[in-house]
Formats: sequence, C-alpha cells, structure tokens
Amino acid sequence: DDALAFACRMPKAELHLHIEGSLEPGLAFALARRNGITLPYADEAALAAAYDFDSLQSFLDLYYACADVLRTPQDFSDLMLAYLERAAADHIVHAEIFFDPQTHTARGIPIGDVIEGLDAGIEEGRARWGIDASLILCFLRHLSEDDGFTTLAEAEPWLDRIAGFGLDSSEKGHPPAKFERLFARCRALGKPVVAHAGEEGPPAYVVEALDLLGAARIDHGVRSVEDPALVERLVREAVPLTVCPLSNLRLCVFPEMTRHTLPQLLAAGAKVTVNSDDPAYFGGYLNDNIRALQAAFHFDKAAWYRIARNSFEASFASEAQKATWI
Ligand code: HPA
Ligand code: ZN
Repeated sequence: DDALAFACRMPKAELHLHIEGSLEPGLAFALARRNGITLPYADEAALAAAYDFDSLQSFLDLYYACADVLRTPQDFSDLMLAYLERAAADHIVHAEIFFDPQTHTARGIPIGDVIEGLDAGIEEGRARWGIDASLILCFLRHLSEDDGFTTLAEAEPWLDRIAGFGLDSSEKGHPPAKFERLFARCRALGKPVVAHAGEEGPPAYVVEALDLLGAARIDHGVRSVEDPALVERLVREAVPLTVCPLSNLRLCVFPEMTRHTLPQLLAAGAKVTVNSDDPAYFGGYLNDNIRALQAAFHFDKAAWYRIARNSFEASFASEAQKATWI
C-alpha cells in the first residue's frame, strides 16, 4: 500500500501521548527489580494478558498500578528515552508529552524528581535522534480542583519546562466545569491548555472544554459527531482533535475500527491528528495506529498528508519552528 508507506515515513508530530502509558511490560519489570518492588503479576506475559479492557476506568486502574514502579529521576528518564526511541523510529520529529504528576506525588515522589527525570530523557533523546519534545502537565480529573491547585503550586519552580496543561483520567462524572478556575490560572501563566473530552463523555463536555477551560485542542473528541452543531464549530474554529484510534478500540469506545468516527470528522473538515495515547497498553505506537486506520479505511496520500500537516499546525511549537516542518 503506497499511501500507507507514505504515511509511515512522513515526518509527524505526536500530540497525545501519556508517558506513563508508554511503560512496556519489560521496562515495568526491570524497574520493579531495580527498585525492589513486587508487581502483582508473575511475569511480563501475565501483565500483558491483563491488558483486556472494557472501559476507560478498567484501563486506568491498571495504568495507575503499574506507575508504582516509577520511583527515581533515572526511572523517569529511562521511560522517556524508551518512548523517544520508538517515536524516532516512526518518524516523529516533535512530541508534546503528557505526564500525570499527581499519580507520583500521591506516592511521595517529589514533583521535581518527575519533571527533571523526564526532562533529562528529553535532552538525551534530542542528542541521540534529533527529536524535539516538550511536556504537558495533566491534572487528574477524578481528584479535586484544590488538589490541582496544590500540584500547580508544587510545579511552579519548573514552569519553564512545562509547555502547557491538560486534563485526563476518568471522564464520566468529572466535567470540565469542575476545573474552570484552575485552568483560568494556567492560562494566566501564559500557557496553552488542552483537555480530554468526548472520549467516553458526551459532546457537551467538548463544548465545556472550549467555553469554560479555553482549550486550544481537544484530546479525543470523537463523540463530537453526535452533535452536528459542535462539528460545525470545530471546523469553523479549526479546533485540533488529537484522535487515538487503537485506544478507542481497546477501551470499547467503538466496537470495531470500521465504526470509528475519524473519517467523518476528517471529511467534515475538522483538524484531525492521529496519536497513540498509551501505546504500551493499546497495541501500538503511532505508525501502528496509522496501519490500523488504513486497514479499515484505505485513505489516499492526500488524506495522510493533511493529517501529518495538521499535527504540526496543531502543535504548540513556535511559528518559526513550524516553518521548518511544514
Ligand atoms: N483518557 C483519559 N485519561 C487517560 C487516558 C485517556 O485516554 N490515558 C491516560 N490517562
Ligand atoms: Zn489520553
């Protein structure tokens, strides 16, 4: 497939990747051994066999449990470098990478250890593969807004390493409105903000993310198609959607790939990008997502070119930097 080879080789940006979700079973067991931790699974195969999810929450339970092996700055650096190596192999030249500080600070890990470890990995990845990466601090929406304010205060000494802020974790029952004041504060710091919305939650959460949080991109947003007026708005305002096809399939947002709404959003003219979300858990990295889409939809080269171009246009890189890619 000519268009598939073209899409896989094309330089791209990845804008929706949770670094904790790139923790492969092999590295999880290696870090557990290094830190003297016992994982509740016999071996890597037993852990991988547990990746059988029926909802976002069933995934999150395991994702937070596995994150317990991450303890030292070196662990975070190793995790980052492992992802960047995979990203470079998929021709990703720019990545904006989510991390969940509250998952770590709640276990007594200082936020500075998390950020400095991840940042060391980014610098090493830049040196080895020339890949450009930055960090987006995500707040956990199942926790309180006050907890988010505490986390923001803890992160303050490292704000120069933070390219923006995001919102993730359990969507249902935790609407964007819950974080309106926190996100106003983030924007007042001069940083762009994004939010997961319309993954399992309704289109109304996408509207809230735009109107109440000032989200510059919507992470997932695939349920937006249930509200035609919203799709019109996303197109009119050129709101980027960071879509993650294998994630949606594995978390049962859609029963099969042929039912995914990405083609509909793309055809409507929405600024769709393709991303891997939590590649260790969902069966693949960015090019694996591209292959899965192509098997279902057989896009042409022009469509793949549009998607790659969208990824750069939707990024938070400087205009000068973007001009080197587009
Ligand atoms: N949705 C919400 N929270 C998450 C996800 C996701 O896809 N991945 C990691 N945390
Ligand atoms: Zn996500």
